[in-house]
Amino acid sequence: MRIDENKDLRPYHTFHLDVKAKYFVEVQSTDDLLQLLSSSLYKNNPTLVLGGGSNLLFTGDLNGLVIKLSLKGIEVVSEDADQVVLKAAAGENWHELVMHCVAQGYGGLENLSLIPGTVGAAPMQNIGAYGVEIRDVFQSLEAIEIETGQIATFNREGCKFGYRESVFKTALKGQFIITSVTMLLSKRPVVNIGYGAVSDTLATWGIVNPTIADVSKAVVHIRQSKLPDPDKIGNAGSFFKNPTVSASKYDALKNNFPEAPGYPQPDGKVKVPAAWLIEQDGWKGKTLGAIGVHPHQALVLVNYGEGKGRDIWELAESIRASVKKRFGIALTPEVNIV
Ligand code: EPU
Repeated sequence: MRIDENKDLRPYHTFHLDVKAKYFVEVQSTDDLLQLLSSSLYKNNPTLVLGGGSNLLFTGDLNGLVIKLSLKGIEVVSEDADQVVLKAAAGENWHELVMHCVAQGYGGLENLSLIPGTVGAAPMQNIGAYGVEIRDVFQSLEAIEIETGQIATFNREGCKFGYRESVFKTALKGQFIITSVTMLLSKRPVVNIGYGAVSDTLATWGIVNPTIADVSKAVVHIRQSKLPDPDKIGNAGSFFKNPTVSASKYDALKNNFPEAPGYPQPDGKVKVPAAWLIEQDGWKGKTLGAIGVHPHQALVLVNYGEGKGRDIWELAESIRASVKKRFGIALTPEVNIV
C-alpha cells in the first residue's frame, strides 16, 4: 500500500476544494484495509474514510489520514426467474452499478440513476431520489468493525434506515467501514413513476409503458437539467435535508404563504421542501465570489472554482439563520462537515 503525504484532495471530493490530507492511502481489498487498521499510521492519526466524496464539505486541510476505499466487484449471489440478489463492493461507482443493473434488466435502482458517489456510501445516508430509497431494495451489507477487525453483517433492520439516515451516521458513527452492499432486485420490474417530474418527462417523450431503461433516462434527464454536474461545478447535491414540521406549524406557514408546498408524512408531520424556503428567502442563484447557491436548484451550494470550504459553511449558516428568522423552520445540513 502506498502512503501519500500532503495529498491534494481536489479530485477526491465533489466540491473540488483546494484542501490537503497529511496522509492518504487508497485501499483495494479488505486485506489491505485490515492491515491498515492495525498499523501505527492508522492508530496515531485521526482518520476519514472516503468513498466518492460526494456528500462532504471540507472546511480546511485534514491533519490526519484519509482512506480512499476502492474495493471493486459486482457479483450475482443468487437468482431465480423473478429476482436476483446482487452484491457490490463498496468502491464501485454508484451510477455505473445502476447502469449495469438497467442493462441486465434488473429493476429497483433505476430511479437512483446519476447519484454521485460510491456503493459503500449509499446505505450510510440511505440515498434517495424520485420516490425510491436504497432501503427499498436493500438486503444486507458487510462492514468491518474498526476496533476488532471483525466482519459484521447488517440486515435492513440493523441499519435503522431513515430519511438520509442510518445507524452508521448515528449510534455506530465511526465504528464500522462498509465493504459491500447486497441488494434484492427484480427481473420482472414494476416501474415507480409516482414522482411528478418523472411521469411528466415520460409523458413529454410520449412513453406510455415505460421500461426501467426509460425511467433511468428520464431521471438522468431531470437531474442533468436541475443539478450541476460536479465534474464541472463543485457541489455535494442537496446541502440541507428537507425539514419536517408539525401539521399545526405547516398550517401556520400556509396562512402566511398560501403557496407553500408540503408533503404529509405517515407520522402526521409535513415535509416542506428546503429548496422552496431558500428560494422564497431570496437565496437562489446568489453568488458570493467563487461560491453560491445554484440558479436551478436552491438546495445546492456550489463552488465555481477557487471557493473555500469555510466560506461555503458560512454561506450555509447565513441561509439557515435567515430561513429560521423568516419561517421559524430550522434547516439541518445533509452533507457531512469535516
Ligand atoms: N423547489 C423550489 N425551488 C427550487 C427547487 C425546488 O421551490 O429551486 C421546490 C418545489 O416546490 C419542488 C420541491 O421543492 O416541487 C421539490 O424539489 P425537487 O423535486 O427538486 O426535490 P428536493 O426536495 O429539492 C430531493 C432530494 C434530492 C433528490 C430529489 C428528487 C433531499 C434533501 N434532496 O430534493 O436528493 O434528487 O428530491 O427526489 O431530500 C441529494 O440528496 O443530494 C439530492 C440531490
